[in-house]
Amino acid sequence: MLDQILTPSAIVKRLDEYVIGQEAAKRTVAVAVYTHYRKIANAAREGTAVTKSNVLLIGSSGTGKTLLCETLSRALGVPFVTAEATSLAQTRYMSDEIEGILQRLVDRAGGDLAQSRHGIVFIDEVDKLRGGDGVVRGASGESVQHALLKIMEGAPVKLADGAFLDTSDILFICGGAFVGLDEIIRSQTHGYGFIATSKGDNQKILDRLNSRVKPTDLFEYGLIPEFTGRLPTIARFQDLDRRMLVRIMTDPRDAIYRQFQAIFRGEGVELTCDPPVFDQIAELALQYKTGARSLRGLFEELVAPTLYVVPDDRSIRAVHFTSMFAEPLFIRA
Ligand SMILES: Nc1ncnc2c1ncn2[C@@H]1O[C@H](COP(=O)(O)OP(=O)(O)OP(=O)(O)O)[C@@H](O)[C@H]1O
Ligand SMILES: [Mg+2]
Repeated sequence: MLDQILTPSAIVKRLDEYVIGQEAAKRTVAVAVYTHYRKIANAAREGTAVTKSNVLLIGSSGTGKTLLCETLSRALGVPFVTAEATSLAQTRYMSDEIEGILQRLVDRAGGDLAQSRHGIVFIDEVDKLRGGDGVVRGASGESVQHALLKIMEGAPVKLADGAFLDTSDILFICGGAFVGLDEIIRSQTHGYGFIATSKGDNQKILDRLNSRVKPTDLFEYGLIPEFTGRLPTIARFQDLDRRMLVRIMTDPRDAIYRQFQAIFRGEGVELTCDPPVFDQIAELALQYKTGARSLRGLFEELVAPTLYVVPDDRSIRAVHFTSMFAEPLFIRA
């Protein structure tokens, strides 16, 4: 598998089929993953150790972080598991929980230890591990960070059956919403206080450097330096605007609109919606502030009453929605 790693642009192309927007994050992650597997291949050839660059994804809830990781692992054909940092903090047996995550990775690889060593572990909600927050019960957020950085760095972890899984080559992707981080970044940079401009500098590069999330911003947020130190690659997810929300309903391969069209097609019925329907759903979703998460529920609510009658009425040939707030049109044979 390591000999035929997808190039970064090929990875982005695969991600584009499912993840709408988030172009910068896709590129950053694609390059990070490509580099990671290249390093493993080189280290294997030269018999050296891999110096890993784990990845941190920052973005609001429902903007595609988990979706991107899932799509990525499918494209790469490597085993993949997700875990919530908060559930690590809530357990009294953190090492059991961590062992459980890695056990799931091995299970995904069909019990193949060698394959699981090249897997990806996605740990969500790491922003909830900040010290002194009082959000987490059980273990303190900081002690979870310590436990995580140990496996992220690379350590042999004993599994339930007594076998050891070495985590040195496993790619760890952490995710979190980091609410309030922008204020911290702004207060610490003071415009261009971070990197001064001089005439010959490229403004685009300066803007990029100054809007970068710096390790100091993450300390300020409450992560410990050792933990952020293990997450050198940071990708930011944009909040979804109305246009992106509309595209999410219609464009991805498994888009909700396509899924329901397929269900209706199975009944011999053509399902169509006029553009205002998607605009209206997107508008409501924006107000709910859960990213793309509420789109599915809203769309299902719209079509569910129709799906109640369609299977019983063989004369219906097509169902057409013109607005969220109007009864659908039934076209009969
Ligand atoms: N950029 C996107 N492109 C396509 N679909 C998206 C996108 N963002 C979100 N979605 C849809 O919303 C759902 C939730 O997104 P996802 O689970 O990736 O959110 P998240 O960023 O991981 O949020 P959280 O921080 O709450 O875990 C996905 O299953 C997908 O259907
Ligand atoms: Mg998620």
